[in-house]
Parts: sequence; structure tokens; C-alpha cells
Amino acid sequence: MTVQDKELVPGLAGIPAAESSISYIDGQAGILEYRGHRIETLAEKSNFEETCWLLLYGSLPTRAELDGFRKQLSGYRALSPVTVDVLGRLPKHGHPMAALQAGFALLGMESPDIDVHDRAQREDACLRLIAAAPTLVAAYARSRAGKAFVAPDPQLDTAANFLHMLNGEKPDELSAHVLDVCLLLHADHTMNASTFAARVVASTEADPYSVCAAASGALKGPLHGGANERVLQQLEVIGSAGAVPAWLDKVTAEKGKIMGFGHRVYKTKDPRAKKLQVLVREVREKLGSTPVYDTALALEDAVVAKLGGKGIHPNVDFFSGIVYEKLGIPTDFFTPIFAIARVSGWLAHWCEQMEDNKLFRPAQIFTGSHDAVYVEIDKRG
Ligand code: SDX
Repeated sequence: MTVQDKELVPGLAGIPAAESSISYIDGQAGILEYRGHRIETLAEKSNFEETCWLLLYGSLPTRAELDGFRKQLSGYRALSPVTVDVLGRLPKHGHPMAALQAGFALLGMESPDIDVHDRAQREDACLRLIAAAPTLVAAYARSRAGKAFVAPDPQLDTAANFLHMLNGEKPDELSAHVLDVCLLLHADHTMNASTFAARVVASTEADPYSVCAAASGALKGPLHGGANERVLQQLEVIGSAGAVPAWLDKVTAEKGKIMGFGHRVYKTKDPRAKKLQVLVREVREKLGSTPVYDTALALEDAVVAKLGGKGIHPNVDFFSGIVYEKLGIPTDFFTPIFAIARVSGWLAHWCEQMEDNKLFRPAQIFTGSHDAVYVEIDKRG
């Protein structure tokens, strides 16, 4: 059977691109597991850094392992003066995801070249990237706001440090805990577009900094991680719960996409959306109301009533922005937060890919023509 006889599957929907034991989704039942652990259990009992270890090494760490991991992360959070200076010189009107891509490239330029086949060197690179990604994002946020860079605090964990570096003060416990759970929920998700991009770049034996820069480019798109910031904008455009029916009728009549809904795999409510909704209620109780939440609830009811039969339900991006807004995070930094969580998943897939690598080089079904005749330019019509 030649390639021409094979049938194209748009978006490779349902086509396996790799074997992996890192995470698992049951799209019909709305189940997500990291290394066999249900996401609900991890969200309740674990934390982001323990989850990073779980994704990278395949099992939960001992207390000594986690303490050592945290110490290593703490040692890699700082940025060089050159990196801080370059991030500070990036265009202020640029998107923070572009700044993060540049930041990954800068990290790579300043880190030791590694042998991607050497496990110890891979592990060191994973630590460097997981540790420094939040610092890259916070550094650009401070620079764009015309504020001085805030160095990481070695006493704080990833989530608390990010808020500390972003706001210049130690966060309250609730905000740090809520962000930690958000990072955990976003850490990995089987063969999503940005993880697939990561695997393709990894398969060329490129360095892990290039892997993360490429994956960030994929995540930035509005059909993927870029949806979270658009959800908040969408809710603000709708304006109120009462305005939902007319807005939804217009969007569906125009065959538009409703941001924060639908998924290639989930055909029921994303289990992460359920947990994020609980976090929204927690922050509302403790930190005050969130006007867009009532609009969000009305939109969810209306969309599920109209499109639920087609398997269109809220996904991870639907409630995350409402949480981040309450934590005082600028809207266009929502996707970078998704990225600083997903770096752990991308790198777990990078390591898995390198254990049994084969260059990704798919085929195509040729639809062009052959035997074209070259006509001199002055004789062309
Ligand atoms: C993430 O893959 C992952 O795991 C991703 C992610 C992760 O953790 O990595 O979960 C994170 O990216 C979540 C998704 C965030 N994106 C959005 O919220 C953007 C809006 N969603 C859609 O663009 C869409 O649902 C996709 C892209 C997410 C998935 O779409 P598919 O699988 O390519 O399906 P499709 O676009 O072909 O839609 C199938 C049908 C179409 O209708 P028909 O032409 O058959 O009549 O469902 C409709 C679509 O019009 N549809 C939607 C819709 N999503 C699907 N209609 C309106 N609004 C939507 N959001």
C-alpha cells in the first residue's frame, strides 16, 4: 500500500504519535491521570513540585527526594544579569509568550551544551528549565510594567516565588496555594499540540531549550493554550449573564468558536475545569466577588444546552483566567502561566522520547502536478 493509497486524517485526530506512560485521558468519562494518579487526588493531596517529580521520574518522591529536588530547583531559579538585561530590552508591546520563547533561547545560550543521550545531563537540564521558566515570565512582566526585576526568594516554592517575583511581595497563603494547584492541573496532558511539537523537535536531537521554545510557540495559539486569555475577553464582551443567549445565538449562527469550550479528546466536562471552578468559588469567598463568574456560569449552561450533544463542554481554559485575574495577574500572562506549568510535561515527554527516539518525519498525500514547464519570465502571461 503506497502513501497515496492511505487516507489523510485531519489534525492526526486519534492517530498515535508515540507510546507514553506519563499521562492518560479517558475523554468519554472525563478522566485524567498523571502516572496512574487521578488528577483530583493530586490536586487535593499533592503540590506542583511533587507532581513535577512524578511526571519526570514515574513515581511519587520520598521526603528526602522531594527536599533535594526543591533545593536543586531553588539553586536554578536565578537568571544571569545578561538574561535580565535582554528581557528588559524586549518590545513592551510584544506578547509575553514571545518573551518566554526568547527567554528559553537565552537560557540555552547560557547553559552548558548537553549530550541529549546522557540521562544525568537531561535531568539537570529539566531542573534548569522548570526552575527558571517562572523567573523568565516574571522578569518580563516587571520590565514591561516599568518595575525593577525581583530576584527569586530561595525560601519560596515555585508558585509562591512566581507571585513574589511578579508583585514584589510575598503572597498570602491562599493565593500561593491556588496558583500551586493551577500549575499542577496544567502540568501534562498526553499528546496535545504543544507536547507533540516538543516531541518533534526532541526527535531531531535538538537541545531541551529549543524543545521548550518550540512548544511555547504551539501553546500560544488560541485553539490551544492561548484560549485562556480569550475566555476572559469573551466574558467581558458578553457583559452579563442576561446577555448570554443573544451572544450565543449570534456566535453559533456565524459558526464561531466559543473560547474555553470543546476538546479533541474530552466529550464531557474537563476534570480540570471542575477543579478550577472550585478554586474560583474559594477565591470569591476569600478575596471578593468576580463579576465575570456569573456570566461564565450562564454561558456554560447555555453552551452545554445547545452544543453539549456534540460533546462540547468547558475545557481547562474556561475557568483558569477567572482565577488568575483574581490573583492580580495581567490577562496576557495567563498563557505564560500555562507554559511554566507545562514545561514539566514537555520535558517529561522529551526524556521519554530520548529513551527510544526515532526522527519524526511523516509522509504527505501529494495533490500537486508533475512535469511543469519552465517559461522565461518575459514570456509569462
Ligand atoms: C487546550 O489537546 C489538549 O489536550 C489541549 C489542552 C491541554 O491541556 O494541552 O487540553 C489545552 O488547548 C484546551 C482547548 C482550548 N481551546 C479552546 O477553548 C478554543 C475553542 N475550542 C475549539 O477551537 C475546539 O474545541 C478545539 C480546537 C479545542 C478542538 O476542536 P477539534 O477537535 O479540532 O474539533 P473541530 O474544531 O473539528 O469541531 C468539531 C465540531 C465542529 O462543528 P461541525 O463543523 O462538525 O458542525 O464541534 C464544533 C465545530 O464547529 N466545535 C465548536 C467548538 N469546538 C468544537 N463550536 C463552537 N465552539 C467551540 N469551542
